[in-house]
Amino acid sequence: MATGDAERALAQAGEAYLPGGLARVYPQGTRINSGGRVEIGGCDTVELAREFGTPAYVYAEDDMRARARATVEAFAARTERFEVVYASKAFPCTAAMRIFAEEGLSCDVASGGELHLALRAGFAPERIYMHGNNKSEPELEYAVTSGVGHIVVDSFDEIERLERVGGASAQPVLLRVTPGIDTDTHLKIQTGQLDSKFGIPLAHLERAVERCATAGLQLRGLHAHIGSQVNDLSVYEALTDVLRDIGDFPLLNLGGGFAIAYTREDRPPPVAEYAEAMLRRVPDGVTVLCEPGRSLVGNAGVTLYTVGTVKEIPGVRTYVSVDGGMSDNIRPMLYGATYEADLVERLGDSVPCRLVGMHCESGDVLVPEAALENPRPGDVLAVGATGAYGHAMANNYNAVCRPPVIFCRGGEARVVVRRETYDDLTRRDAE
Ligand code: LLP
Repeated sequence: MATGDAERALAQAGEAYLPGGLARVYPQGTRINSGGRVEIGGCDTVELAREFGTPAYVYAEDDMRARARATVEAFAARTERFEVVYASKAFPCTAAMRIFAEEGLSCDVASGGELHLALRAGFAPERIYMHGNNKSEPELEYAVTSGVGHIVVDSFDEIERLERVGGASAQPVLLRVTPGIDTDTHLKIQTGQLDSKFGIPLAHLERAVERCATAGLQLRGLHAHIGSQVNDLSVYEALTDVLRDIGDFPLLNLGGGFAIAYTREDRPPPVAEYAEAMLRRVPDGVTVLCEPGRSLVGNAGVTLYTVGTVKEIPGVRTYVSVDGGMSDNIRPMLYGATYEADLVERLGDSVPCRLVGMHCESGDVLVPEAALENPRPGDVLAVGATGAYGHAMANNYNAVCRPPVIFCRGGEARVVVRRETYDDLTRRDAE
């Protein structure tokens, strides 16, 4: 049966379906309801916009749980020695972190603030990995006194700082290695190449291992994160080779980087293939850690906006402005990241247009070449795959209030982070 026929059959049977490759972009369970509107986690998106306002980050809670389970299952099917560590920077939201703690994942934190959230979310301290290329002494002290399982040591200076922190003498640590591997991803999110602020270059590793010993640290393994949105899985095999050549350690943390679908054309490798690639060359008896962020939350979330101004410039283009932009999603401006947009009541692509935000900046373009179905002021619009590094990197440019985070499940919606208010904007004023 052709895809179209299958979709029509499902639609006739009243089953969940989304046209084309949209199902890969939107949260699992997203469907067009009987009113012809996009429904997420069983909630009608037009009603969500009415109740909670826009812009709003809307997540299907079940999608996050399903992806956590699928990741655990992909590794569990191949080994008993593994740990899935949620990279909380992708979506540092207590409610989401609580979900991953409940699902039995560990947690990667990259600052004192993320550590605070992880502890608040209920992660057992011993399941927390503390990262960062420039951890301050107070942050290290916070980690040590909280009983964090592992600190991922990034430099010689950090070892000195750790020596000054009381009680750090028997602290289990990993060493972050710069493996000298280039990935196929955007330059700004590559981290494995030699020319990087992260980690210890291979040439200095022997000295770093000795230095951990003289500092009395308990060196349990190595860590490397080679980049994000990695589609070429062979880099994980190359990475394993580099790390196993360094020496025998009980733990190897191979980082995150599992790719997701941002557009309906994207076909990221299934998580089982990442597990396979990560485990293929690992020596027996070694525990492998993976550290995905984006792939656990990216497709779980969409941003809902309201269309405000539709401006047609004859012979040039049509601009469709929404009520958010680079304050809630800076990825298109920082990385040239590609997204698609849909009107939640009218999927379709009859009008080529440029989807822009409301900020005082010409570069505030969310989707340069969008296509919408007859866009009009007041329409609710969704941008999919904004669950990772959206809320995480939101800012107050133009004194815009940051959007709320809404979790949807089985037709029930709840606010897990409220919208900022004008009062929040002046709350930190010292005079
Ligand atoms: N582990 C470490 C040590 C990391 O530095 C990162 C991401 C991850 C894990 C998770 O990577 P993921 O699975 O999410 O790709 N703001 C950028 C991404 C920066 C990622 C930094 N580190 C973006 O919006 O694409």
